[in-house]
Amino acid sequence: MARLLIEGCKKLGGEVRVQGSKNSTLPILAATVLTKDENVLHNCPCLTDIDAALRILRYLGCKASRSGHTLVVNTKELTGDSIPDSLMREMRSSIIFLGAILARTGRARLYFPGGCELGPRPIDLHMDALRKMGAEITECHGEINCVARKGLRGAAIALSFPSVGATENIMIAACLAKGTTTITNAAREPEIEDLADYLNKCGGCIHNAGEGTLVIEGVESLHGTSHSIIPDRIVAATLMSAAAVTGSQIVLRDIIPAHLGAIMPAFEEAGCNINIKEGVMDFSSPQRLKAFRNVRTTPYPGFPTDAQAPVMAMATLAKGTTVFVETVFESRYKHVGEFLRLGAQVKAEGRVAVVEGVQNLYSSSLQAQDLRGSAALVVAALAAQGKSEINTTKYLERGYEDFDVVLSTLGAEIKKI
Ligand code: EPZ
Repeated sequence: MARLLIEGCKKLGGEVRVQGSKNSTLPILAATVLTKDENVLHNCPCLTDIDAALRILRYLGCKASRSGHTLVVNTKELTGDSIPDSLMREMRSSIIFLGAILARTGRARLYFPGGCELGPRPIDLHMDALRKMGAEITECHGEINCVARKGLRGAAIALSFPSVGATENIMIAACLAKGTTTITNAAREPEIEDLADYLNKCGGCIHNAGEGTLVIEGVESLHGTSHSIIPDRIVAATLMSAAAVTGSQIVLRDIIPAHLGAIMPAFEEAGCNINIKEGVMDFSSPQRLKAFRNVRTTPYPGFPTDAQAPVMAMATLAKGTTVFVETVFESRYKHVGEFLRLGAQVKAEGRVAVVEGVQNLYSSSLQAQDLRGSAALVVAALAAQGKSEINTTKYLERGYEDFDVVLSTLGAEIKKI
């Protein structure tokens, strides 16, 4: 099992490109199932979660190959309508194949999905919506059996929470349903817009993506297309945090400023300087960071839950008190216990964490427990005096492509062993 060794307190500098978005690539890969055709997807990051999605596509009988950051997926042949438990458990996003397989074949058999442990992660909103669209769904010992005997039909769906995954599943299923589907209280994340762009290029008819009410007019069929995935806003936020805690100046390429709208104020209040021109961010941070206003994670356009851990790493060194309220997931503070080992002062109870910034962090041996928490441990270790060790890269590799190499390019002393 690979580990990371990080010698902290080195200034970063130089320029890197931000990778393509994992959370855009995954639903788009599932959506290719609708097209019965070849799809060429550019800017897809090399990640274990993406490999897991490719394994699912191949299991279903589709062809999928990678050349650098380009994936070519041909879904003409689809020999199966089920996904085994072992593949479903590899990541949460496997559940997005439900809407795609069901829309294409009229039936689907799969299992409850895996993914990072962030508290309970039910799929009731996905199932309720597909039932409304005409699917009969039975669940038994973790197995989910779906049949749409007369095909799927458009429906008016009101989500009680703007779930990203449920919105994606419904959008995909609705593309080939008879009639029009409306989703009120739909997720508005940039990844939803990217999925809609892809589906519309395939001949789909999705209106208002990125707004609260999505309208999807079902079409007879979709064709393949070529699409370039948007940059990963959470990776950008993580690199900004790394530069912030080390008092560094770096340049990030492939930035979409609007996608960072809720994140940037925290950095600016902490005293960082951000200039963005034509997709290039010039980022610099002061010698000592300042505490920033409460961070309350909420669905987009609010502060993203995925950036909470890396930004908290920054708060551990900021002068003053910063309060975090995690409203999206029930249990997303696993990194806090590891921060304490580095000498940080953080108290977490329930959904609230209070961070008293300290002057210095000190190296330690750290245990990674989830994807964004792992990234936050890397950020904190970059600022800690001495050599820290992170026990595994397995979570990090789900979402950050060659993160050790990217940080080394920026001058960090980080080694994967
Ligand atoms: C997506 O997960 C992302 N994953 C997550 O990124 C991200 O944290 C999350 O959206 C929120 O932004 C991918 O895109 C692959 P949700 P998803 O459905 O779709 C509850 C990362 O680190 N809920 O919006 O699973 C749920 O329990 C990851 O890259 C229900 O109650 O998120 C949670 O509390 C982790 N019933 C909340 O909604 C449902 O049927 C948000 O979940 C569905 C969700």
